[in-house]
Amino acid sequence: MRIVALLLTTLAGLTSFCQDHGQLALIPVPVNVTINAGHFELPKTILIEARDQQGLTPALEDLKAHLSIPTGYPVTVTTQPRTDATIRLVLNKTAEATLGAEGYFLSVTPDAILIRANQPAGLFYGIQTLLQLLPKEIESRTAVNRTAWQAPCVTISDYPRFGWRGLMLDVSRHFFTKQEVKDFIDEMVKYKFNLLHMHLTDDEGWRIEVKGLPNLTKTGAWSVKRVGSFGTFPDPAPNEPRDYGGFYTADDIRELVQYAKDRFVNILPEVDVPGHSLAAIASYPELSCTPGADKYHVRSGEKIMDWHKGGGFSALYDNTLCPANEKIYPFLDTVFTTIAALFPFGYIHVGGDECAKNFWEKSDAVKQLMQKQHLKNMEEVQSYFEKRVEKIVESKGKKVIGWDEILEGGLAPNAAVMSWRGVKGGIAAAKLGHQVVMSPTTFFYLDYMQGDAAIEPPVYASLRLKTTYSYEPVPDSVDPKLIIGGQANLWTEQIYNVRHMQYMIWPRSMAVAECLWSPKEKKDWNNFATRVEGLLPRMDVEQVKYARSMFDATITPTKDVAAFDSLTVALSTEVSGLDIYYSFDNSNPDNFYPKYSGTLSIPKDATMLKVITYRDGKPIGRQIDVPVLDLQRRAGVREPLSTGD
Ligand code: ACM
Repeated sequence: MRIVALLLTTLAGLTSFCQDHGQLALIPVPVNVTINAGHFELPKTILIEARDQQGLTPALEDLKAHLSIPTGYPVTVTTQPRTDATIRLVLNKTAEATLGAEGYFLSVTPDAILIRANQPAGLFYGIQTLLQLLPKEIESRTAVNRTAWQAPCVTISDYPRFGWRGLMLDVSRHFFTKQEVKDFIDEMVKYKFNLLHMHLTDDEGWRIEVKGLPNLTKTGAWSVKRVGSFGTFPDPAPNEPRDYGGFYTADDIRELVQYAKDRFVNILPEVDVPGHSLAAIASYPELSCTPGADKYHVRSGEKIMDWHKGGGFSALYDNTLCPANEKIYPFLDTVFTTIAALFPFGYIHVGGDECAKNFWEKSDAVKQLMQKQHLKNMEEVQSYFEKRVEKIVESKGKKVIGWDEILEGGLAPNAAVMSWRGVKGGIAAAKLGHQVVMSPTTFFYLDYMQGDAAIEPPVYASLRLKTTYSYEPVPDSVDPKLIIGGQANLWTEQIYNVRHMQYMIWPRSMAVAECLWSPKEKKDWNNFATRVEGLLPRMDVEQVKYARSMFDATITPTKDVAAFDSLTVALSTEVSGLDIYYSFDNSNPDNFYPKYSGTLSIPKDATMLKVITYRDGKPIGRQIDVPVLDLQRRAGVREPLSTGD
């Protein structure tokens, strides 16, 4: 006990420790960590010994900048063995099997820091862990006045659970510049993600230059600027300027691919076909089978689909490439030739999701195709398309991955599946022997609201941090080897700027990172929540936005059918140890108001519930105001409205 107490006292001043919890704020949690007594202090002149720098040069430059800018200390890197090295980066001569290609060993002692790995990627991840051990100000992009820069003494050996640890950024709905994508990569690698999926094409924009198809970027990359509630905008007038958007040139892509590679990130390009193709159709209307497609334009957020309640949907404009139109196959050949040449990653994502079939059903060309190819239904028509696409992609030396709809009507022989409509598509694909990447809406959709709808920017669904963290990517019923990993997706219909993009990504992507890197048995929600809290101040230093929704109350209204649909409300918090205070009298509650201790009934005539969370007598969550009418609507209380009396 006394040793533990001594250790905690020694470490109390280190900002890399979670306040008052005496544990390292490391995310994802490493496989093995031993905390030792004492600390290492950065000397006023820092020497990094990296004898074999192959593949590591840009990472060493990043490390140099990280260490020198905030501290003001000069940092040099040497390839020579030096006994006085501050940090030693060593590639194992004989591979250490448990570490694999991405694992590392990190030792911090009072005298020196050592990172060992089999491959440069492992050294890179060891560096990321080391940075999390240093004070938060190490993330500053300007000099910081601090007398000592210390890291606790530790021994860590660490390696990932999955090889595919991805984040998807939708650059079609809202275009993000090359620099913004680079900044995104810089953030994701801190949590050891190694794959950036770029959703490059959709109804709202075609984002990549393709030689021989100039209209894709002349027309397809531009829409009319709209702000507000996406999906509800009126049709743009013919004279409104189409100047909102952008695209990446081939040189931009080469630069991004190299930037990512230097940070051990692969970029997975997605061309979303045959649905979600309005930008392509607006550029080349002859790819459609629908008369009038020459009047179509790139979507600016107007309504183009009918999402029927209880499943099913139909398109109001034909936003599909027509499988019965032979012109689409040479078009796709040209597109995939460019994509395959620019992106070295082994897979190309071909989309396949949410393809409306209502225009195909009316098309004579599609009917003839069905007869000729003996296709029984529209799913088989899409499957016919996917198999041809797979052949094109494979002819470029690449493998196909697609959203789980590509399973319907028969999966192309070598395709991998990205399971998004829950996990059932992933299970079905794995049972057929296909590789699977798990990215279910139910756990990994970062466009969903992460807190109460009354205070979050509105989206049609919610996904709280704790739920994301609870995800186990390998279903019981399948061969685990076929689940090659997972990724979280950030769709950007409602995301108009980088600050909001960051808000939606963090801290939920920390939960995703831990699900994909750390051993299943090391996952622990309370411990994770504490570490997240330990890391958030680093994001303040970096000036990266994040959500604090994890500290807000969760409001769960329920109707009591037995009591004439009267309404009760349960309040809870994701993070333990918080107090919830509430009011029904329209005033703003503080810690002198009633403290929540059990399910609430709504007082007769009350019109508003207000709640706020506190910790140790200080507000920590945001105040949430919900009209009683809204609570009733959420609970599905029937008219006439009852307030529990
Ligand atoms: C998707 O979310 N439509 C893949």
